Amino acid sequence: MNSLRFHEPVMVEKVLSYVLGIRMNVFVDCTLGDGGHTLEILRATRDTLVIGIDIDREAVAAARERLTSSGFPGRAVVLREDYRNLPHVLARLGVPRIDAAIFDLGVSSRHLDDPERGFTYKGDAPLDMRMNPDSPKTARDIIMNSSEAELERIIREYGEERFSQKIARAIVERRSVKPIETASDLVEVILKAIPGRFRGGRLHPARRTFQALRIATNDEISKLGNSLQNAFYLLNPAGKLMVISYHSLEDRVVKGLFRELEKTGNARVLTKKPDRPSEAEVARNPRSRSAKMRVIERRDLSW
Ligand SMILES: C[S@@+](CC[C@H](N)C(=O)[O-])C[C@H]1O[C@@H](n2cnc3c(N)ncnc32)[C@H](O)[C@@H]1O
Repeated sequence: MNSLRFHEPVMVEKVLSYVLGIRMNVFVDCTLGDGGHTLEILRATRDTLVIGIDIDREAVAAARERLTSSGFPGRAVVLREDYRNLPHVLARLGVPRIDAAIFDLGVSSRHLDDPERGFTYKGDAPLDMRMNPDSPKTARDIIMNSSEAELERIIREYGEERFSQKIARAIVERRSVKPIETASDLVEVILKAIPGRFRGGRLHPARRTFQALRIATNDEISKLGNSLQNAFYLLNPAGKLMVISYHSLEDRVVKGLFRELEKTGNARVLTKKPDRPSEAEVARNPRSRSAKMRVIERRDLSW
């Protein structure tokens, strides 16, 4: 899989602008992916230790190889871990506090560009979509076993798909006749469910449903608030937590949590409005177009 193009990191200059002025002994990249942000932090600093974690085995293997060959001996620790376990991971490493952390949520190009993993409506792979291959539930399981009401909710909430009812109905009808196994089976069902005049838009008609299934398969929203809060509590004073999200539900979680933390008086939100990629970046890397970055700074430890 290492022949795939590396995922292009989003809003790198912005990320650097928040952290380069602060004391930074330890930086944690909670969504290492191909190591794009980590590599930029390593290049821009001299002594910072970067701990990079990712749930995806292939991403971890590729990032490890890439970082090793980039020549930062002893400065990068790469682990296959779930960011939901961050406090335990750091405790195991003997790292009590950190100076900055980034969560770059959503999907990696590694997932989208590899048709074998079933993330993309462009391929014909089994509908897997798990970022963590050890987790028990695949997208196929959701498609084949959820009730129509649950499918409708997933497609509407996570996909913001206006034809969620029609698509959920069509899935249930089709699976009662024949299992839906592959990405192209699902695309076929979606195309039939969507009214003809809405099939020719700029974005593929199956895009939103695939996004919804990915979010549900990986349970991407439910523990996000907790994970971010845990990371925040690990920061040193003046430490910063940066979150890049690509979905309005994720951004709502981030915004709500940051507001609550600020109310305690011990945190300052540095982005009253989220930072967005520049037009030039979106032109160069269209996958950045929905990115929103919010940043919070810890002020003291008086809890
Ligand atoms: C948008 S990509 C990050 C790309 C990275 N910033 C880069 O520049 O290469 C998001 C990554 O988060 C990882 N991920 C998703 N859920 C995770 C979790 N619960 N714990 C750790 N990593 C997770 C995915 O496997 C994916 O590689």
